[in-house]
Amino acid sequence: MDQQQYAIREYHDVNEIYAKLDHLIKQPMRPIQRPRMQEFLAYFENQCKRSKELTDEAKKYIPGGVQHNLAFNYPFPIAVEKADGAYVWDADQNQYIDFLQAGGPTVLGSNYAPVREAVFELLKSCGPVTGLFHEYELKLAQLVHRLMPAVEMFRMLGSGTESVMAAIRAARAFTGKKYVIKVGGAYHGWSDQMVYGLHVPGTGRFEAAGIPRSASAATQEFFPNSLSALRRHLILNRLRGGTAAVIVEPLGPESGTRPVPFDFNQQVRQLCNEFGALLIFDEVVTGFRLGMGGAQGFFGVKPDLTIFGKCITGGYPMAGGVGGRAEVIMRFAAGIGGTGERAYIGGTLSANPLSCAAGYHALLEMERTNAPILAGQAGDRLTQGLQAIIQAYNLPFVAYNQGSIVHLETSGVMLLDFRNPIKLMRELKPRKHMLEEMGAAYMSQGLITLAGSRMYTSMADTNEVIDEALKRFEQVLSACDVLHRGEGVWHEQSIQTLRLPLGDPGSFYVRQPDDPDAVDHLRADHRPGG
Ligand SMILES: Cc1ncc(COP(=O)(O)O)c(C=O)c1O
Repeated sequence: MDQQQYAIREYHDVNEIYAKLDHLIKQPMRPIQRPRMQEFLAYFENQCKRSKELTDEAKKYIPGGVQHNLAFNYPFPIAVEKADGAYVWDADQNQYIDFLQAGGPTVLGSNYAPVREAVFELLKSCGPVTGLFHEYELKLAQLVHRLMPAVEMFRMLGSGTESVMAAIRAARAFTGKKYVIKVGGAYHGWSDQMVYGLHVPGTGRFEAAGIPRSASAATQEFFPNSLSALRRHLILNRLRGGTAAVIVEPLGPESGTRPVPFDFNQQVRQLCNEFGALLIFDEVVTGFRLGMGGAQGFFGVKPDLTIFGKCITGGYPMAGGVGGRAEVIMRFAAGIGGTGERAYIGGTLSANPLSCAAGYHALLEMERTNAPILAGQAGDRLTQGLQAIIQAYNLPFVAYNQGSIVHLETSGVMLLDFRNPIKLMRELKPRKHMLEEMGAAYMSQGLITLAGSRMYTSMADTNEVIDEALKRFEQVLSACDVLHRGEGVWHEQSIQTLRLPLGDPGSFYVRQPDDPDAVDHLRADHRPGG
């Protein structure tokens, strides 16, 4: 029997997921009943005293008291002291089942001993960094090439964000073209040019505080899954500098929160071929989590460039890299000297021996133990259990997964978009707050999630861990109820509105004088097959 190679056993029915998500977003919110929420919040006051002390003090020196984007700060952040396998412990010795897993890099589970030992060995012999070449750089590059043959050459960097910047620079240098097109709502790090259409499709520069207009002037977004909108951008761009690259998260924006039909990536590949643009796969999340061949192996699509992050160093610092066609990656040739043709990149700590050794041993261990598949099986079990709870309590919530990436949509905030700006303005804040509450409630039951709506499973999530987690999820989900008018904070929050740049949705709608129906096209297009 063929051994399963990818964490996704069976590709989900995208139309069915969208139908459920559509239903969810049309429903009134179902937040946690107020008295139960008070009980969940009491946990933090009573049992997280040391965390509160530490993070209150941190607020004096660190903006907001917490530095990681994915750390909860409602009602206040918890301070973590220990991590091992499926669990973390906070400064008050409370134990949690950890489905954040640092945002995805630790498919082997947290603080996996064989990788830690290999890192210790490396530290004993040469320390973390010398600024010169180390054999582990070669070993890691060779390994990545073996696992993903489309990566003919590989350049290690410090983060996913940096790697996206580098890939775009190389794409422009190589093609001599100007525009970069991304999918609305997708996340490709926080560089000036990529803080565009962030989280919510169609919002263009909504989050671009501190970023000059010129920095994102050559960035465009198209509505998730709308190949015709992408084609329109490509056609128009031909007349004004061309498209250097199309960049996608291969499972769909926000790690598959808006999933793609199975053939979407292949179709984008064809469009890129037709218009001479490079295809960049951002595999920061999918790279090795989906399987050792990444999303490109799973979908059978060969990108020109691949972005790495997270798993590339197995959870150790300085996780980033870009690889792909040799003729493009050669633009990064480093060392002293170089030609005027090169795309300049660098970094004091990039490709340091510690990161390369950690990545090399973590990837080998993942391959040896079949970790992506085991983590995927845990994701399947978790999803099936959540679906059963949702059904038992007759909730409109939606649970689905792509292997070890599990989505639990309860507030539906990620499904709002710019096609309905009034709904977006009215509901963004209250739906976001509901998500905060869900995340805090899960945590009070000993569950850590990513922003209250996503979970990463790991090889350490045995059936026992998942079954225990499901009991805890049930405690929270069973407390969700229809919102009743006048229920304190909810009523106040729900009448707040946001200021959105209504007149400035960027190039989302592909405004063009000869195509006044562009918005209607998008409406008709936005569903797979639509
Ligand atoms: C798909 C994707 N691309 C890029 C990034 C940015 O990577 P980093 O946080 O290492 O800068 C992330 C981070 O979560 C990501 O999920």
